[in-house]
Amino acid sequence: MGQVRIVIGAQWGDEGKGKWIDTLAADADLVVRYQGGNNAGHTLYHNQQKLVLHHLPSGMLHENRKCYLGGGMVINPIKLLEEIDTVRKILPVDPSRLKISARAHIITPWHIACDERFEADAAHPIGTTKRGIGPTYAAKALRNGMRASAFANRDEVLAAYRYTAFQGSDDHHKRHPEVWQKFEEACAALAPFVDDVEQLVRNDIRGGANVLFEGAQGALLDIDHGTYPFVTSSSTSAAGACQSLGINPRLITQVVGISKAYTTRVGGGPFPTELSDATGKLIAERGNEFGATTGRPRRCGWLDGVALRYVAELNGLDALILNKMDILAGFPEVKLATAYLHPKFGRIQHFPADTAVLAECVPEYESFPGWPEPMAVSGDFKALHPRAREFVAAVEQFCGVRIVCVGTGPKREEAIYDRTYGAFRV
Ligand code: GDP
Ligand code: IMO
Ligand code: MG
Repeated sequence: MGQVRIVIGAQWGDEGKGKWIDTLAADADLVVRYQGGNNAGHTLYHNQQKLVLHHLPSGMLHENRKCYLGGGMVINPIKLLEEIDTVRKILPVDPSRLKISARAHIITPWHIACDERFEADAAHPIGTTKRGIGPTYAAKALRNGMRASAFANRDEVLAAYRYTAFQGSDDHHKRHPEVWQKFEEACAALAPFVDDVEQLVRNDIRGGANVLFEGAQGALLDIDHGTYPFVTSSSTSAAGACQSLGINPRLITQVVGISKAYTTRVGGGPFPTELSDATGKLIAERGNEFGATTGRPRRCGWLDGVALRYVAELNGLDALILNKMDILAGFPEVKLATAYLHPKFGRIQHFPADTAVLAECVPEYESFPGWPEPMAVSGDFKALHPRAREFVAAVEQFCGVRIVCVGTGPKREEAIYDRTYGAFRV
């Protein structure tokens, strides 16, 4: 039996999943994205070159890895083709290595127009990426969506606008014929990549393959368990991998969460530990916290232990990677939120189900002396400054999850490992 690992974002996205999935892919035969679409922006480095992937699994830069776009995803055909072309400048990409699930839903030009319109008209905009994600998942739930299986049938693709006709896409089709023409051509070009990905994954697992399921966004953006309505429209949590890919949950051997050593969030919604002072600005500057997809500045704040402990329990995290520790090096003091104070409910130690309650919470912090700069970039936990180790130990203890590595920079080799934890090898 091989390793069947799920890697998820443990916060509100942009935790460094791309870097870590690229790193862990060295050990995998197969990397499968299971939800979301090109709202994701996963940053990788190839030699010195930065590459941001939006749909493609972050195992793409390993030549022999099979990379699949799973059934829980939503796909923009024009943008996916552009992405494939970018990766092709580095490595060969063909349907023997890259596959698209026949069950994945397709983002049409109409869904993108709807996303823009909903945001513009909303009294409280979500701050979406405007990539058409929500309307495409809504069409799926309405049983009114287009799936990748339609790519193989030119007539079905040509009639794509009819899938959403009752929402008014007919008119959009007439007003923007050139966009729809490009859309239809992209669908046809992607047809050779479409396959029964879920069955192939099950076959590979049965054959003993090492499999990596790649989460996008983060657990706090999960449609059910996140800060609704300020969430994305898919199941970002570990359970979402099993549901979206049709995998028996008992086959999962490990769930790994990625968190930054602090917190960021792009778009609207409550964020109790957000810092609107000079410290928040400093974290943003040092961490270069700008969205990899939209370029929007990310809101920054201290690590929220209450939220992280909730995510650890929700996803059954076996291991946690505490990423971007290097960004906090040199800070005189570093904080971890360990409870919330609410004007009506007093001291709260759990993550509230009601987003309005969360919005009124003020964090209670535990404070730690900072560790000096520069910090070591590689090695094992002995290389960590004792004060950095103290912070790692406190997070580990508070959240009840083993921290198996610490990120110290954007490159694969910039990481410090707890070598005493045998179940996590890179
Ligand atoms: P993702 O969406 O979770 O894949 O994360 P993003 O790519 O959107 O954002 C993470 C950013 O942090 C990227 O610019 C990465 O290159 C960078 N990064 C990842 N890990 C580290 C780390 O340990 N230290 C530093 N300084 N940067 C990192
Ligand atoms: P990665 O995979 C951070 C946020 C948006 C918005 C909300 C809904 O790079 O971590 P959507 O377009 O999905 O309907 O927007 O979710 N969001 C992300 N934030 N990282 C992401 O992806 C995100 N994908 C969506 O900013 O608040
Ligand atoms: Mg990102």
